[in-house]
Amino acid sequence: MGTTGTLGTEPSTGPSTGPAGPGQVEPQQVCVVGAGYVGLTAAAGLAELGHAVRCVESNPGRLATLAGGGIPIHEPGLDELVAKHLGTGRLSFTGDIEAAMDGAEVALLCVGTPPRPDGDPDLRQLGRAAAQAAAAATRDVVLVVKSTVPPGSCEALELLAAGHARPGVRASVASNPEFLREGQAMRDFFFPDRVVVGVDDPALEPVVAGLYPKEWPLLVCDRRSAELVKYASNTFLAVKISFANEVAALCEALGADHSKVLTGVGLDGRIGGDFLKPGPGFGGSCLPKDLSGFIAVAGSMGQEATLARAVREVNDGSRASLVGKLEAALGPLSGKRVGVLGLAFKPGTDDVRHSPALGLVEDLVALGASVQAHDPVASVPSLGDGQVDDPYEAASGADAVVVVTAWPEYGDLDPGRLQRCMEGHVVLDAVNLLDAAAFGAAGLDVYGVGRGHPLSVAPVLWRPLEWMIDAEPTVSLDEAGPEDVDVLAGR
Ligand code: UDX
Repeated sequence: MGTTGTLGTEPSTGPSTGPAGPGQVEPQQVCVVGAGYVGLTAAAGLAELGHAVRCVESNPGRLATLAGGGIPIHEPGLDELVAKHLGTGRLSFTGDIEAAMDGAEVALLCVGTPPRPDGDPDLRQLGRAAAQAAAAATRDVVLVVKSTVPPGSCEALELLAAGHARPGVRASVASNPEFLREGQAMRDFFFPDRVVVGVDDPALEPVVAGLYPKEWPLLVCDRRSAELVKYASNTFLAVKISFANEVAALCEALGADHSKVLTGVGLDGRIGGDFLKPGPGFGGSCLPKDLSGFIAVAGSMGQEATLARAVREVNDGSRASLVGKLEAALGPLSGKRVGVLGLAFKPGTDDVRHSPALGLVEDLVALGASVQAHDPVASVPSLGDGQVDDPYEAASGADAVVVVTAWPEYGDLDPGRLQRCMEGHVVLDAVNLLDAAAFGAAGLDVYGVGRGHPLSVAPVLWRPLEWMIDAEPTVSLDEAGPEDVDVLAGR
């Protein structure tokens, strides 16, 4: 072991205060397998903490980008840290796992675990990574699984690794799930809510926990529990979002205000306000995948995962309701022109995996609409000429404009200019970003998610009135209109 490493400056994306933050570590020789979101963030973060990190990437194009000083993903603060530690020599990239594993005490496995078509996780990349890392290890090594995996995977990987390790070399496996969010990955790395370390052999705890400053909040447990923490966390986040979307749908029907209702709900400390924002449904590379993984794991244990299945159904319905709103405003969508603002699954990233926006584009095209889309960062080659460089160009000649990703620049759109570009006057704000009053003043009809329609206020009175009066109402509740308020109230 070398001298105690000291952290440098905070990442530019980090807050000035936080639950944990920079600290000190005993430097270790670390190999990171896979330079995707998780691997690159971990590699840059561990180098910043003081470790000597070699990152292996098998994709030649991605490796060439990294070797040339480029960053293949859009992640604020990551490029600065990578450049800094290519400079300090604490970080390097290679395609050669033998070179990367030479002398490594720890190997972080950060490869993808995408869902198979049936929803089960595809763990083949992980199996290959563990086998190759074990085979290349020149000393006893701990393979640390950062990728999201079904419980039991670490134990299975240890069996696999043992079959590939050189004689006399022990390859142990530990779980250390990653909780970073795209768009704020560096902040999440340096200010984690918790570091979860899953080990069955207590001797491995200091090696894995020792990757991080001891001030950081740490949960040590067995491997299966650690593996399940990740699935359960993402499933619960999905539950919260789908719950928010269900409440928002009810707000629309009742004429209530989702922002007040969900703020009121979230202010309960037992519930918490995060992840209660309604929108077009959750997307991205993790929540949909981990929800499917949770359902698959439960299924493999003979359990139904009833709540998780319902969450998926609500999420599919959230996207479908956008199409429903457009149809309600425009009539049949065939032949209509729709401007779609936002393609990334959320702002701050160029990732379009499981993006609600792309799903919406597919739905619109399937219904015969023509789509012009814009995103400030994400690019979708399959859209061809259908993706344009300017939001006003996307709105040009459109019957309706839909804001699907909450990029801050869309909040700054000029309502008058947008209105002049458009053929129609319908704006569907699926992320509740726009100043509805300003757009309304410019002659646009703005529909949000979870903002009630004034007309829904009258019908909502009927059932409570029925529940309050003894006599049968003299007017049929199904046919009653606003003019029947007095009759129903017995006045
Ligand atoms: C998520 C988890 O947050 C992270 O801990 C895990 O490691 C990976 O998966 P990420 O996929 O980057 O991170 O995005 P996140 O910020 O969690 O958002 C996921 C989706 O939920 C997005 O589509 C987002 O727009 C949506 N969302 C989020 C809502 O619709 N409402 C909310 O209140 C919050």
